[in-house]
Amino acid sequence: MDIFDMEIIIQPTAEAATSIAARIIACLLREKPNAVLGLATGSTPLLLYRELIAMKLDWRKVTTFNLDEYVGLDAAHPQSYHSFMWENLFWHVNIPAKNVNIPNGMTKNIPACCESYERKILAVGGIDLQVLGIGTDGHIGFNEQTSSLASRTRIKTLTPRTRKDNARFFGSEAKVPHHVITMGIGTILDARHCLLLAFGKQKARAIAEAVEGPVTSMNPASVLQLHPKVTVCLAAGAASKLKLRDYYRWVFDQKPDWQKI
Ligand code: F6R
Repeated sequence: MDIFDMEIIIQPTAEAATSIAARIIACLLREKPNAVLGLATGSTPLLLYRELIAMKLDWRKVTTFNLDEYVGLDAAHPQSYHSFMWENLFWHVNIPAKNVNIPNGMTKNIPACCESYERKILAVGGIDLQVLGIGTDGHIGFNEQTSSLASRTRIKTLTPRTRKDNARFFGSEAKVPHHVITMGIGTILDARHCLLLAFGKQKARAIAEAVEGPVTSMNPASVLQLHPKVTVCLAAGAASKLKLRDYYRWVFDQKPDWQKI
């Protein structure tokens, strides 16, 4: 039976938390070979993609939509999210290129590109499962603080903090683009299942606010509290500021067999 709730899963390590997330995705692809996945980039999902590749799942009928892309980076740029996704996942699984969707950072018409991205998601029946990381300020996708909680795919300006956080990929902060195209918070909320991953102490505050704080655009991930089906897979560091962490651990340990992942 399917569970509709926010489930917080705390594991000792990023590897253990990732392995649960990978099993959730594997289950979905086995049950629904033509599933539609929403995917994220950044450091967090790297282990997940590695594990999914190792599982040798069948991706022939899977369709994917990535959350975001930098404006001004062409697909071949080493730091584009196109390059990231092909290098870290798509080249290693049997997904047809036509099933892969990533916003075009080089489009001449950003509003039209965003609208057609939304239309394409609708046309395939919506996203079954959306993988999410979280920024140190609580952003999901590149919906920075104070983003509209009803926003759709659009252009956003990155905050200085996010540009600083992402400078590690570019070698210097000056090289990090200022603008991105990102799915909106409303777009993310439309996914039938959201799977949020976070590891490391640097994410602890954002996670505590997202899960236990008020719903506020100052922590965009907190809007997931309004979503009917969210799984939050955390390594202990990222869970360290959760007030109810012992309760979440207890709930997970007591799961009846029929609910086990
Ligand atoms: C990336 C994305 C971002 C990242 C977030 C965390 O597609 O949507 O929200 O998930 O910035 O990044 P990492 O995982 O690098 O800490």
